[in-house]
Amino acid sequence: MSHAPMTLDDDPLAHLMARVESAADAQAKALHDTVIAPRFYTTDYAAMDQINVEPVRAEWNAMMAEYEGDNNHDHFQRDAGFAAEAKQQVAQLPPALRQEFLDFLIGSLTSEFSGCILYNEVRKHVTNPDIKKLMTFMARDESRHAGFINQSLRDFDLGVDLGQLKRTKRYTFFKPKFIFYATYLSEKIGYARYITIYRQLQRHPDKRFHPIFKWFERWCNDEFRHGESFALIMRANPKLLRGHNLWWIRFFILAVYATMYVRDHQRPGMHQAMGLAPTEFDYTVFRITSDIAKQVFPVEIDTDHPVFRRGMTRLVDINNHMTLARAQGGVAGKLRQGWCAVQAAAVFARVYCLPVKSQRLPAHVRVQPTW
Ligand SMILES: [Fe+2]
Ligand SMILES: [Fe+2]
Repeated sequence: MSHAPMTLDDDPLAHLMARVESAADAQAKALHDTVIAPRFYTTDYAAMDQINVEPVRAEWNAMMAEYEGDNNHDHFQRDAGFAAEAKQQVAQLPPALRQEFLDFLIGSLTSEFSGCILYNEVRKHVTNPDIKKLMTFMARDESRHAGFINQSLRDFDLGVDLGQLKRTKRYTFFKPKFIFYATYLSEKIGYARYITIYRQLQRHPDKRFHPIFKWFERWCNDEFRHGESFALIMRANPKLLRGHNLWWIRFFILAVYATMYVRDHQRPGMHQAMGLAPTEFDYTVFRITSDIAKQVFPVEIDTDHPVFRRGMTRLVDINNHMTLARAQGGVAGKLRQGWCAVQAAAVFARVYCLPVKSQRLPAHVRVQPTW
């Protein structure tokens, strides 16, 4: 096994990341709320119950048949050698990379479980048969995904207590339309990330430093289909996709992209170890996500614009200063944190105001996961 040169152990910021040495640390990390950490959501269930998918009925029914067919029902099983292989490979990782990988597992677990809780709560609170059925299938998939990641944490006695997390983590309320924009994007970006990693490790199996990556291809097809579901819901309710809602769509695209960019650049070693430069990886993921999103969003943000690119770099710098200021503590630390927040908001606003590309939506909504 070979890795790209690691400089992370010399990076003062790496030492400020909360280390995961025990199950309690893993639990605390999953519970911890920051601007860029995955969140849990609640929504207006009565409004969810009113969703009508009649305008896309044919495509909807075809999608439900795919969920029913459940082609991944036997996928999330570990083979006999999984745990031994994982332990042996992770033992060889440089300590900083090991921490980044654990951070990645805990973050991914939190996101998967967040979907699981939200879909399950919607399922419980609605009577609309289309939405109820969809939520049942998506909760089924997310619960498999979360369980599969948690098994990998348990190999190192770092399993997260999901019941406790569900009871104690803070929930953010989003109106249904914001759930649709945000969740559509996070499902599609999840697909784009997993498939890009999978393809890279297919080309460079020597860089696959944990067996879990072998599961990513069929896994990301679940995420892709979840995204398709939200695309159909939004296309069936076109008022969500015009007028002032276009400003909300632009806001969510930028927020989701910027969050991913900052998070990935906070742990660049993991992507480097897979032979992926984090900046290049993120722009590949943006391109794939934007291409897919042509099925539903009439606007696309220009991720190649020099102001966008400079903005992303600035947000990483500001986030690093924020981390240092938080570690500094005291009144001076608080003031520095406030200043960082002001600067981040200004950069975000500048990028938000860039011109966007407009596009006509295709008559046929669904696309195939061919990346
Ligand atoms: Fe998932
Ligand atoms: Fe998903």
